[in-house]
Amino acid sequence: MASKHLISDSAVVPAHIAKQVVSPAAYADWDAIHEAFTELRKTLPLGLVEAPGFDPFWLVTKHADLMEISRQPLIFSNNDHRCALLSQSAERQYLETRDEVPFIRALVTMDAPEHSVYRRLTFKNFTPKGIRGLEESIRALAVESIDEMAAQGSSCDFAESVALRYPLRVILSLMGLPREDEDMMLRLTQEVFNPQDPDMSKTRSDVDESEASSYDLGALAEFNQFFSDLIKARRANPTDDIASLIANARVDDKLLPDWDVASQYIAILTAGHDTTSSSTAGGVAALAAAPDQFTMMKNDRSLIPALVEECVRWTSPLLSFMRTAERDYTLRDQTIRKGDWLMLSYPSANRDEDVFEEPFVFKANRTPNPQIGFGYGPHICLGQHLGRLEMRIFFEEFFRRVNSVELTGHVERSRSINVSAIKRMPIKFTMS
Ligand code: HEM
Repeated sequence: MASKHLISDSAVVPAHIAKQVVSPAAYADWDAIHEAFTELRKTLPLGLVEAPGFDPFWLVTKHADLMEISRQPLIFSNNDHRCALLSQSAERQYLETRDEVPFIRALVTMDAPEHSVYRRLTFKNFTPKGIRGLEESIRALAVESIDEMAAQGSSCDFAESVALRYPLRVILSLMGLPREDEDMMLRLTQEVFNPQDPDMSKTRSDVDESEASSYDLGALAEFNQFFSDLIKARRANPTDDIASLIANARVDDKLLPDWDVASQYIAILTAGHDTTSSSTAGGVAALAAAPDQFTMMKNDRSLIPALVEECVRWTSPLLSFMRTAERDYTLRDQTIRKGDWLMLSYPSANRDEDVFEEPFVFKANRTPNPQIGFGYGPHICLGQHLGRLEMRIFFEEFFRRVNSVELTGHVERSRSINVSAIKRMPIKFTMS
């Protein structure tokens, strides 16, 4: 944890912003949280957050700093459960119960050398070459989603009926899971990432914010239960899917422990759909607010890859990850001490005025676009090419069929400090 006595008061983030940064509800107010980050980028790009109930941490808001930290995993580790923001009480609860409910052992909680060993198990399947063969089946799912949208007439909740379902179906088919599991997976994913959102969590909606954690450990346990049967089935009868690949993968000639297999499943399932769905919905919302850009895209589909990058920059659905300093390090004339905790803010880095011209303007054809929404360095998103492919195909089908789109109500975001999901987005549309 960052040691306050060594730090001047001028390096401490103002209390009202510190409160926002750790508050799941504050991220649902997208404009207000961006105002706070903008102030910090200007006045205190690397500041210490001291919020009641949380260990202090450095808040990293600049694009260059996020890259500098992310590319040095031996100096800034992911450090197991401390890779995500969690309150002191959530950490205490985890430490007390970890024998019963272990924390997820996914890539994002691991450090070298284990991280690269586990990343290699599925890496090839997620490279551009590895996913090339999926295009046809993904397109069929995109067409199905647009058909479902069309079937609703001229209005729908785009988040609920399109954006949340399509990426989940892609991930389920990649994993080799049946369509019947869709509703359960949607519910569990939302519970894991949004334990403080009353619409998305069954257990902890009334929890005090200082009790907040990024993940719902109870939902993780439910996932575990479900996956133990799947692991057994895939080991007994291997099939041609990611679930089989991981269940039958060997490290040092041994199968992985069941919890490690289940953790990889959970990470791929959860990381793989809420994020993509939020970027897609956020992109459609931005296009609805800028009809000239909608028309530009409809008339020139070669611009779609640029649109996809801008959607990820604009929405930055992955809100933060944490790192722990493994040794003293100087950044922006500030000494970060060994053991200090740091928060990487992707939405802030993606609005950095030093990198992006007019960062608060959605430019569907923005080029170049060095957005950092998929992270950077050895932990860079495993599914980045898949996410891009899904969104490209979706927009190709969308612009082929949809002639206009208009927002008819408020875009509602989840209360989460982890993934910013768009949970409601009422629209009116016309189709060809
Ligand atoms: C728009 C969609 C997506 C966004 C914005 C996103 C964002 C991110 C970010 C910011 C990280 C952390 C990177 C870092 O620490 O430097 C990450 C890691 C990860 N993502 Fe994604 N992601 C998306 C889609 C996906 C998909 C479709 C999958 C499915 C396989 C996926 C699986 C993962 C995994 C397994 C990791 C951990 C990688 C590691 O620690 O080595 N993500 N993602």
